[in-house]
Amino acid sequence: MPRKKTNLMSTPDKVGRLYDGFAARCAASIFGDSMSLHVGYWDNPDSEAPFSEAADRLTDLMSEKLQIGPGSHVLDVGCGVGGPGVRIARLTGARVTGISISQEQIAVANSLAESAGLAERVVFQQANAMEMPFPAESFDAAIALESIPHMPDRGQVLTQICQSLRPGGRLVLTDSFERAPIPAAKQPVVDRLFNNFMSTLVRAEDYPPLLRHAGLWFEEILDISEQTLPKSYSWLQPELETTMFGDDVTGRFDGMDLIIPEVGYLMVLAKRPKS
Ligand SMILES: C[S@@+](CC[C@H](N)C(=O)[O-])C[C@H]1O[C@@H](n2cnc3c(N)ncnc32)[C@H](O)[C@@H]1O
Repeated sequence: MPRKKTNLMSTPDKVGRLYDGFAARCAASIFGDSMSLHVGYWDNPDSEAPFSEAADRLTDLMSEKLQIGPGSHVLDVGCGVGGPGVRIARLTGARVTGISISQEQIAVANSLAESAGLAERVVFQQANAMEMPFPAESFDAAIALESIPHMPDRGQVLTQICQSLRPGGRLVLTDSFERAPIPAAKQPVVDRLFNNFMSTLVRAEDYPPLLRHAGLWFEEILDISEQTLPKSYSWLQPELETTMFGDDVTGRFDGMDLIIPEVGYLMVLAKRPKS
C-alpha cells in the first residue's frame, strides 16, 4: 500500500486555492494553445516538438486507451482549464463532463468549450473528486490526467471513479511515483517541490491492489518518465517560477531534473468489470 510521506500535505481546499490563483494566466502563457496543465510526451529524445504539441500528444495517447467515440460520455477528473476535455470531445465525438476543485478553472474551461463551439457536449463543473456528485454508473469512461497526485486518498478517489463508471468502462490516469528510493540528501528537494499540493508518492506495485480494492481491474501500467519528464521539466521550471507563482518563489522549482531518477511518471489503465 502507498507509504505515507507526512511532509507532502495536499488537501482539496489548498489545491483549489492554488489553482484558482493562476487559472487563466498560466494556461495560456505556459501551455499555449493546448490549454493543458500537464507534462508533455515526446516519442523520442531527439524530437523538437514544442511543449504544447507534446502536451496534446499525451492527451491523445490517453484518450486512445479509452476506446471511446460518438455517444460515449467521458468523466474528466481534475479537468484543469479544459484543454484536454475539449480536445477529447473534438477528436472522438464523445460527450465530456469535467470536474475541478478550482472554481476559477471551471470558468475558464467553460468559456473554452463555448469558444470551440462544443458547449453542448462539453460541460465543466466545480466538484471535489473525493466526493463525486454523480449518480452511480453515469459514465462510459474516465480520465484523470495528472490530478490523482493531488488527492489525499487514492483509494477513495478510485472507488468514487469506479462507482461513476458503467460496467465495462475504462479509466486512464497518470500519477507521480517513487521510481527508486529517495536518498536522504534529495528528500528536501522533493519536499520543496511538492509540499502542500501533492499527496503521498506511490510505487508502481501499489497500483494493482489499489485498483482491486476500489473495484477496478488493473489492465496496464507504463513508466513514461523518460518520454515526459526531462523535456517537460526543462521547459516548465523557469515558467513555473515567473508565470505561475511570480518572482517571490524564486528557487522553489530549482532541481526538478535532479529527482527524475527517483520520482517518475506513470500511466495506468484500468477497467470496471462487466459483472
Ligand atoms: C495538474 S492539473 C491537471 C489538469 C488537467 N487534467 C490537465 O491535464 O490539463 C490538476 C487538476 O486536478 C484538480 N484537482 C486536484 N484535486 C482535486 C479534487 N480533490 N477534486 C477535483 N479536482 C481536483 C485541480 O483543480 C487541477 O484541475
